Amino acid sequence: MEIKKVCVLGAGLMGSGIAQVCAQAGYEVTMRDIEQRFVDGGMNSIKKNLNRDVEKGKITKDQMDAILGRIKPTLDLKEAATGADIVVEVVIEVMDVKKKVYAELEEIVPKHCLFFTNTSGLSITEMASVTKRPEKVIGTHFFNPVPVMKLLEIICCYQTSAETLETAKAWGKKIGKEVIIVKEAPAFVVNRILCVMLNEAFYVLDQGLASAEDIDKGMMLGCNHPIGPLALADLVGLDTLLRIMDDMYRELGDKYRPAPLLRKLVRAGNFGRKSGRGVYDYSKK
Ligand code: CAA
Repeated sequence: MEIKKVCVLGAGLMGSGIAQVCAQAGYEVTMRDIEQRFVDGGMNSIKKNLNRDVEKGKITKDQMDAILGRIKPTLDLKEAATGADIVVEVVIEVMDVKKKVYAELEEIVPKHCLFFTNTSGLSITEMASVTKRPEKVIGTHFFNPVPVMKLLEIICCYQTSAETLETAKAWGKKIGKEVIIVKEAPAFVVNRILCVMLNEAFYVLDQGLASAEDIDKGMMLGCNHPIGPLALADLVGLDTLLRIMDDMYRELGDKYRPAPLLRKLVRAGNFGRKSGRGVYDYSKK
């Protein structure tokens, strides 16, 4: 199936990154969010990334303008999704909200349109079940920062057809990602392993075994990780990490219990880099 127009629902960190890589690959992109400040924030982040690429000589100013010209930011779902060949849904990780969006989309998008969800762990099978095209629904899980991270985790839900999988794989390749194919299960593959490690770092910190800086230094220098687990949790978002752990705990049992310190920091509003404070303080940077 040929893809020309991509509709990205969500202009946050992940949504704007996905819109950027799609526009860089030559697709016409609409990027929709529910408030102007989110849409503006997404466009600013894309401009910042592209400006950096221009300064480094990776792209020209003309190429940057052409990429930006392919992205249409909007608040209007109908405008965003009309005529879309694929919708990449990056809305808030609340099942009922996602289901409502899919029900609305059914009234707008063409029959051939595929639904790609960037959920980091919710059941894609459950989302597909509220659509009239369950075989056209698939998980496309990106990693933060989207323009930098090479991986695209593709998750087939119970109903996903072989044709939808082939289209998603080809699209992933075109936007410059390496793909892995995964069967649906809580948190899929990468987050299932990664989030347990991040969660464990909060237990270790809470038990006072080492300082945050030394825990991160240990994993960076001892395991060659590019960033320590606590700093990575701040990048991912402590609220996001807690939500993934809560989901895994509920579905898979005690082994996945969220660390009490992680929950406490989220309750304190320490969501990580995006709120200016997580494990570390970013307010002065
Ligand atoms: N957007 C775009 N580009 C960015 C960026 C951003 N937010 N942050 C950094 N970059 C680029 C830089 O411009 C730089 O590009 P060049 O190589 O062309 O110069 C490159 O990335 C390296 O950046 P820096 O030199 O500034 O910093 P760094 O070397 O410390 O790298 C990092 C930063 C790429 C984020 C690195 O720390 C890293 O790889 N961290 C691990 C990230 C990771 O594990 N992500 C997965 C999180 S889990 C997830 O996302 C899934 C989920 O559902 C929770």
